Amino acid sequence: AYVIALPCVDVKDRSCVDECPVDCIYEGRRALYIHPDECVDCGACEPVCPVEAIRFDDDVPAEWGDHTASNADFFAAV
Ligand code: SF4
Ligand code: F3S
Repeated sequence: AYVIALPCVDVKDRSCVDECPVDCIYEGRRALYIHPDECVDCGACEPVCPVEAIRFDDDVPAEWGDHTASNADFFAAV
């Protein structure tokens, strides 16, 4: 699935929210998060992020940390 990774933190451009056909991008305190079960993997959000924060989860650079896990933690807490 797609995830929003480290570059979104404290940027929160929100261009991605307008592109998502299923409204599965949720706002957190310092970044936005893609709901892993609601995302239909359409890829529409990926090119519009000005800081290239949106990646297919296998393509998140390892040095950015485990954003699949942090996304899951975010949705477990809401
Ligand atoms: Fe929404 Fe598509 Fe991006 Fe998933 S890949 S968050 S469904 S725009
Ligand atoms: Fe964040 Fe990029 Fe969306 S900065 S809010 S992932 S457009």
